[in-house]
Amino acid sequence: MLGSFKVRTPDWILFGFDTVRQVGVEAKRLGAGKVMLLTDPGVVKAGLLDPVYESLKGEGLEYDIFDAVEPEPSIQSLLEASKMAKQGKFDVIAAVGGGSTMDTTKLVAAMMTNEGDIQDFFGVDNVPQRGLPTIMVTTTSGTGSEVTRMAVFTDTEVNLKRVVSAQNILADVAIIDPNMTTSVPQPVTAATGIDAFIHAVEAYVALSASPLTDTICLEAIKLTAENLGPAFANGNDMAARYNMALGSFMAGISLNNAGVGAVHALAYPIGAEYHLSHGLALIVIFAETMRSISISCLPKFRKIAEAMGIDVDGLSPWEAADETVDGMTELARMVGLPTTLSEVEGDQTKIGQWAKAAHGEQRLLGNTPRTLSVEDVAQIFEKSF
Ligand SMILES: [Fe+2]
Repeated sequence: MLGSFKVRTPDWILFGFDTVRQVGVEAKRLGAGKVMLLTDPGVVKAGLLDPVYESLKGEGLEYDIFDAVEPEPSIQSLLEASKMAKQGKFDVIAAVGGGSTMDTTKLVAAMMTNEGDIQDFFGVDNVPQRGLPTIMVTTTSGTGSEVTRMAVFTDTEVNLKRVVSAQNILADVAIIDPNMTTSVPQPVTAATGIDAFIHAVEAYVALSASPLTDTICLEAIKLTAENLGPAFANGNDMAARYNMALGSFMAGISLNNAGVGAVHALAYPIGAEYHLSHGLALIVIFAETMRSISISCLPKFRKIAEAMGIDVDGLSPWEAADETVDGMTELARMVGLPTTLSEVEGDQTKIGQWAKAAHGEQRLLGNTPRTLSVEDVAQIFEKSF
């Protein structure tokens, strides 16, 4: 692999215990003034805003809070947050939350400087100007949204996921403090953790992968596979939380540079149809999607197995790939996740419709190592029951 590649990251990334206490210093450096904080009720209840308030006050900064970010946010909820942003005199917009909060924050900030309707921003690089400066404080180890240029919204009118992918919504500062993840409920630890693992796997086999992302992905696969169980079993296992935060961050960097593929494309119609969290929508179609594309990159599957600690010595490449996919399923089952569409009461008569929608996600399918027709996609859905 001797190709050229580019690397996209936020300007600053602060990683480690107590980095959340830097939010005030960073906001001041970015020109605050007054900060708009976006969050959700669960984060408020868990007391995770306390160190943020302290840090902002410590720098003499003012702030106001929008605490109604929805899970898997609708376009409507984004517009509400944007309305509040436009009414206040904010200099910096900060997220304290998971992927839904960070995605909302990216577009709220962008809509402060870009004219036009939200519909104009969907797609690739359709945000012409950078928005107000942003700080992303993540409270989950999973989405990687703090370091990506993607934001996903639910279009409730047509039951579809709509994606903004734009360099101009990448955060100015990402803060990844493992302390912020200890109060995450067990099912959320599982669903977000598996999202991180899937980012690492999908970016590793992606057509846009580079030598840099390959190295990061394998380490992220190792970290998430080793630490998801311990973090799930004991939320206060600080080593596991640290390693999940690190794995998720690495997977996010890989996702932002190598991209993801078919698993995310197939998950979008499922998530929108059944109002599943992103991680759940991914994991119910993950195994069969991976089994289907494994034939295109068998040596990479052997490397994934090694990173996961699965012994594939002496197995043929095909057997090794199968064994790897089985190991992925076991990892998900170990943390109580469903791994088939039957378990989320999927409706088989919808397969044709889902296949068409998933196949339309050419940004993702075009980055997948196996070329998948609509029929291939439909077959993966069928096998996932
Ligand atoms: Fe994801």
